[in-house]
Amino acid sequence: MITIESLEQLREQLAARRAAGRVAFVPTMGNLHEGHLALVREARKHADCVVASIFVNPMQFGANEDLDKYPRTLQADQAALAAEGVDILFTPSVSTMYPKPLADQTRVEVPHISNLYCGASRPGHFVGVATVVCKLFNMVQPQVAVFGKKDFQQLLVIRRMVADLAMPIDIVGVDTVRDGDGLAKSSRNQYLSEQQRRIAPQLHRQLQHLAERLRDGERDVPRLQADMRQALDQAGFVTDYVEIVDADSLQAMRDDSHNVAILAAAQLGGARLIDNIEVHLNDS
Ligand code: PAJ
Repeated sequence: MITIESLEQLREQLAARRAAGRVAFVPTMGNLHEGHLALVREARKHADCVVASIFVNPMQFGANEDLDKYPRTLQADQAALAAEGVDILFTPSVSTMYPKPLADQTRVEVPHISNLYCGASRPGHFVGVATVVCKLFNMVQPQVAVFGKKDFQQLLVIRRMVADLAMPIDIVGVDTVRDGDGLAKSSRNQYLSEQQRRIAPQLHRQLQHLAERLRDGERDVPRLQADMRQALDQAGFVTDYVEIVDADSLQAMRDDSHNVAILAAAQLGGARLIDNIEVHLNDS
């Protein structure tokens, strides 16, 4: 695996490899765990050359968020990616990605869905995500790019951007990788104290419980959402949102929605945890 910081070098390396076969791309912000590595393994199935990137993107962090304390663990990340057989690791600096002040940077905005749920709680977040991913796509020019379903709304924003801007890239989603007790793996889990870590799996458990109630035929969406919110708050979370939505549009679930997603975000101590579950409903 080679690690490259400059865009010129990346383009030079990729020109040679592109001629030999397909390129798959896995963008990350580093501090890698098994969730990220599952994306790399999926990427390998689709391409001859796998490119990963590590860039903690200032444009997607709000003023009061964890940009400065976001964990940076480049050496360990390099070792993990090399062990997975990644070909190229791209680690651009902020000035490579954003040579001009952020306010002067051209932006990519995916309307409507960017402003819901996580977008409502984190204004500007998905503009930052779409802009950096668009820019990374232009730099790497992959045929395939792999994203985690853990960030369900992010995956939809990227799919919509790629469709709307006619980018010739297949977007592949990978199931959420979890710890044994169900907690979705996340760089932010390390902000949890021991006691909070014991509470954290409740987020997934409550999602499963709500999914079960939907499968059992319950359809009182406000009631279901309120019940889960209450259960989380009682367990010690400060719930941001619990939303039962149509998985394809991210709009409120309709009576004829077959693919439903339950999306949830909640603060637990110093960590903002998000998780989701997909539920496939029959016509009953
Ligand atoms: P980051 O949080 O580092 O995540 C990189 C990718 O790993 C995303 O596609 C995310 O959904 C996936 N991922 C994280 N935890 C996962 C888990 N437990 N199981 C499966 N996949 C998981 O998401 C970002 O970075 C950034 O927003 C980025 C897309 C890189 C743009 O800056």
